[in-house]
Amino acid sequence: MVAPPPARPLPRSPASAGPLVAGESSAYDSRLLSTTMNIRPVEAIDRERIRQILVSVTNFTPQEVQWAMDLVDDSIAHDNGGEYVVQVLDDGEESERLIQGYVCYGPTPMTDGVFDLYWIAVDPKRQGQGLGQILLRFVENEVRRQGGRMLLIESRSRQSFAPTRRFYQRCGYDEISRIKDFYRIEDDKIVFCKRLGQP
Ligand SMILES: CC(C)(COP(=O)(O)OP(=O)(O)OC[C@H]1O[C@@H](n2cnc3c(N)ncnc32)[C@H](O)[C@@H]1OP(=O)(O)O)[C@@H](O)C(=O)NCCC(=O)NCCS
Repeated sequence: MVAPPPARPLPRSPASAGPLVAGESSAYDSRLLSTTMNIRPVEAIDRERIRQILVSVTNFTPQEVQWAMDLVDDSIAHDNGGEYVVQVLDDGEESERLIQGYVCYGPTPMTDGVFDLYWIAVDPKRQGQGLGQILLRFVENEVRRQGGRMLLIESRSRQSFAPTRRFYQRCGYDEISRIKDFYRIEDDKIVFCKRLGQP
C-alpha cells in the first residue's frame, strides 16, 4: 500500500488482462476460482462498491481510502491503459454479481520488468476465504505475461497490518527492505518482493 506518487508521463505496456472466467484456460490457475467468480478490468460503475470495501476495511484511514480511490479513478479515466491497472473480482449469479475484492498494480517506472502492487483489498465479510490469494496470483500471472520479473509490495509495520504482512509472506513474498519510523514513529515502511519466473 503506497501513497500515489506524482503523475509521471511515462509510457507503459498495455494491460490487456481482459476478464478471466472460471474454467478458462490460462497460465493463471483457474482451479482456484469458483464457478461463479470472475476477474475483470474495473469500470466506472464499480467505483462506489470499491469505496464501500475500502471504507469497511478497518485498517485504512480516510486519507488512505482517498489515495486508493485516486488510483481507481486514474485507472478508470485511462480505461486501464494508464500507469495504474485495477482488476476486480466479482461473484454471484449473472443478475446480481457483487465485487468482493480488487487489486491495483502497474509497471514501476524507469525499471525493466519490475511491477508494483499498489493496493489490494477484500470485503471483510469475505476475508480469509482465499480471495486475496486468487487476486494476487492473478496479478503475478499478468506480470509474467507482460515479461515482468519482479513484483514489489509496500506495507507498513503498524499492528493493524500484521495479518496483511502474514498474507504476503504466505504468498511467498520476502521482506527485502525496511525504513524505520518512515510513516511515523514506530510505523516502518516495509517492502516485500517476489521474483517471478517465466511460466
Ligand atoms: C490482505 C487481504 C487482501 C488478504 O485477502 P484474504 O482474502 O483475506 O486472504 P486469503 O483468504 O487469500 O488468505 C488468508 C491469509 O491471509 C492472512 N490474512 C490476512 N488478513 C486476514 C483476515 N482478515 N482474515 C483471515 N486471514 C487473513 C492469513 O495469514 C491467512 O493465511 P492462513 O489462511 O494460512 O491463516 C485482505 O485480508 C484485506 O483486504 N485486508 C485489508 C486490506 C489490506 O490490508 N490490504 C493490503 C494493503 S493495500
